[in-house]
Amino acid sequence: MTPLTHPTRTRLSDPLASAPDLTGRRAVVTGGSSGLGLVTTRALIRRGATVVIGARDTARTQRARDHLIAELNLPAGRLIVAPLDLIDPHSIRDFAKAVGDAPLDLLVLNAGISSVPLRHDHAGIESQFATNHLGHFALTGHLLPFLVPGVDPRIVTVSSALYTGATLDLDDLSSRTSYSPGRAYSRSKLANVIFAVELQRRLSAQGGTVRSFAAHPGMARTPLHATYPSAATRVLTGAVARVIGRDPGPADIGVLTAALNQEATPTLFWGPAGSKTIPDALGQPFAAVASDSATAAALWLKSEQLSGVGILS
Ligand SMILES: NC(=O)c1ccc[n+]([C@@H]2O[C@H](COP(=O)([O-])OP(=O)(O)OC[C@H]3O[C@@H](n4cnc5c(N)ncnc54)[C@H](OP(=O)(O)O)[C@@H]3O)[C@@H](O)[C@H]2O)c1
Repeated sequence: MTPLTHPTRTRLSDPLASAPDLTGRRAVVTGGSSGLGLVTTRALIRRGATVVIGARDTARTQRARDHLIAELNLPAGRLIVAPLDLIDPHSIRDFAKAVGDAPLDLLVLNAGISSVPLRHDHAGIESQFATNHLGHFALTGHLLPFLVPGVDPRIVTVSSALYTGATLDLDDLSSRTSYSPGRAYSRSKLANVIFAVELQRRLSAQGGTVRSFAAHPGMARTPLHATYPSAATRVLTGAVARVIGRDPGPADIGVLTAALNQEATPTLFWGPAGSKTIPDALGQPFAAVASDSATAAALWLKSEQLSGVGILS
């Protein structure tokens, strides 16, 4: 297993050229109905995997599935839809049951909401932290036993380059005293990165074969930005995405590199670099805030307490 120390920035061109044939392998993609999750799902089933996708809007997810099955002329069983609401512990458990107890080779923790108005989960936790981090934490706990017997088993957490400017503030997860939609989103993405790094540390200490990666899409032109509560922010972000953003296909290269490339290591944060249309994959060392062991331990404990799911502790 690769040590977590002294990682070197790595740039890979055409990183999927030698991606393995995934025939017979099983993958789960959360949020596989839209944007980056849909692109990830297409790439995996095109290489032969059977994929389970989960999202809240099951009609939209079913439409996305039917479209991919028809487009790629696949047997119906290669792409399975199961309802998933990451803010609801019962839904997460039911989704994990629907995934089944056969070996799993890849778990892509992709689903997310961004910069939404203040809402809370059943326990009073701000909804972006609850959805983007806590829900995925719990799902990982449910599915980890099935990844252990997988082939080159990987967990890929989709975060954002915005994590570097975020503060975790675990003592104010309700955000009731002060709420900024953008700050809460960045906090959830910081939690994603800390989770991915700490999970890799714990998996590595155990000596098994499952590996945890973190990746990001840069800025991608997806429906994610349409939910900002402020019209001005929606217009501004839409304009910025048109100018500097990538379409979901090229933006997804870091996620797919983390999922499939044999040279990719979990010690780096994988994202796109260079060309808007055919980017390289760039693995960058994590910022110090992502690998502070005291912060990671505090996040882990809090996540276990709030989700009721224990992972490698
Ligand atoms: N787009 C960007 O510029 C950008 C930049 C940095 C990071 N990212 C990250 O990339 C990931 C994918 O985002 P995207 O841009 O592809 O967004 P998107 O097109 O809006 O897709 C989000 C997906 O997440 C699902 N989802 C949302 N809430 C959910 C919940 N409670 N339970 C289960 N599924 C849920 C959505 O389906 P339902 O609504 O049906 O549930 C949808 O399938 C996110 O983690 C995001 O933070 C995106």
